[in-house]
Amino acid sequence: MPLPFFADVVFGKVSWFPELRTVLLVTALVLVVGAIKWYSMGASNTSERQMHSKVVMITGGTSGIGASIVLELAQRGAQIVLLTHQEPSDFFLVEYIEGLRERTGNEMIYAEQVDLSSLHSIRKFATKWIDNAPPRRLDMIILCAATLTPPGKKRAVTKEGLEESWMINYLANFHLLSILSPAIRAQPADRDVRILFATCASYIGSPIIGNGDDAMKVKEWSPAKAYARSKLAFTIFGQAFQKHLDAYKRPDGLPMNARVIFVDPGYSRTPGMRRWATRGTLWGLGLYVLLWNNAWLFLKSAEGGAQSFLYAAMDVTLGRGPGGKLIKECREMDFARVDIRDEEVAKKLWEGSEKLIERVEREEAVRRALEKKEAEAAGGGKQGEATADATGSGTDAKQSKSRRQKKSKK
Ligand SMILES: NC(=O)c1ccc[n+]([C@@H]2O[C@H](COP(=O)([O-])OP(=O)(O)OC[C@H]3O[C@@H](n4cnc5c(N)ncnc54)[C@H](OP(=O)(O)O)[C@@H]3O)[C@@H](O)[C@H]2O)c1
Repeated sequence: MPLPFFADVVFGKVSWFPELRTVLLVTALVLVVGAIKWYSMGASNTSERQMHSKVVMITGGTSGIGASIVLELAQRGAQIVLLTHQEPSDFFLVEYIEGLRERTGNEMIYAEQVDLSSLHSIRKFATKWIDNAPPRRLDMIILCAATLTPPGKKRAVTKEGLEESWMINYLANFHLLSILSPAIRAQPADRDVRILFATCASYIGSPIIGNGDDAMKVKEWSPAKAYARSKLAFTIFGQAFQKHLDAYKRPDGLPMNARVIFVDPGYSRTPGMRRWATRGTLWGLGLYVLLWNNAWLFLKSAEGGAQSFLYAAMDVTLGRGPGGKLIKECREMDFARVDIRDEEVAKKLWEGSEKLIERVEREEAVRRALEKKEAEAAGGGKQGEATADATGSGTDAKQSKSRRQKKSKK
């Protein structure tokens, strides 16, 4: 019976029961840990909105926060177009998509190959998308892919010669949305179109952006600076893109129905975070595993990080009024820098980015043309040799002919 038992505890008759001090200490510890965990888990999306028939295009949908967003949206019936750098026939990607289809009972999950480290790859995909007539349905674009060089690692440059963080985290999105813009603006006026930008509090510490040229300078580079700078540029561009959309005069005279929404997921336990925390090393990974309880306690899960995205994707009020809002912990927040809304800053960055893309695309087109020519020439040469071998009219044949002529002269 509980009452006699408690009486025995109080009057000290139960010898094995811990001291009151210990009980209080353990209770306090459990409460503190519980409070930290509750706080670090962050807010949850409570919307019950279904997403049937919505077409959602997402970058970074194969890992971490992006993968959790995809799972939830697919469960709610959305059609998902994953932009991945692997080919759609890639074994792991096929397994991933089949797994998703099975778990969600949603067959409408596809992949399109877009390597965000390549301007050419982005252009190939985006022009194919906008070439469709009538314009394809597109309800949402979620820009979630990003890269973060672990501390101590070297500066990486893409095949096209651009600093990797700048390219993947910012320029790729600039290029993609610039080309997709007609497809976004062509959506019927009654459609609630949203473009979600994954931002990060690191933008607060970024140096000023200018026209973006500093991002290419080796002496201006450190992993943290490159990431912060790319996220600030991404956010400034997002505001400018909203203005670009708002300035469009729809043929039906109705107001713009596409809205940019920035989402800060908060610090979360994802493969990207793990790579950064472990410095991409084996000893770092060992330390991470040993201290995993700290990561568990202080960081959100990937599902936790996805909550603000899901809120931004589903909350009905965000489909009304002006775009360009920042969502963190499932509520609207203010930006911590004034240059994000500065039109002059945005104009300088936009022009600088356009110039850079134009120059790199031109150089790359020339390089590809030369490579093609060389390949054709080499192919032609080989074909010539093969023909010569078959007809006996190649160099060897000429040499044996001259040998025969010499012999006959003798
Ligand atoms: N995790 C956090 O604590 C945190 C905090 C604040 C903001 N954020 C932001 O939230 C977003 C998601 O973060 P996360 O930690 O979940 O990211 P993550 O685990 O590192 O995943 C990054 C995603 O980007 C994709 N990606 C990378 N390079 C690509 C390329 N060249 N072409 C196409 N896709 C490429 C990756 O594809 P593969 O897997 O195929 O390589 C992966 O799906 C990011 O924008 C991040 O900046 C995260």
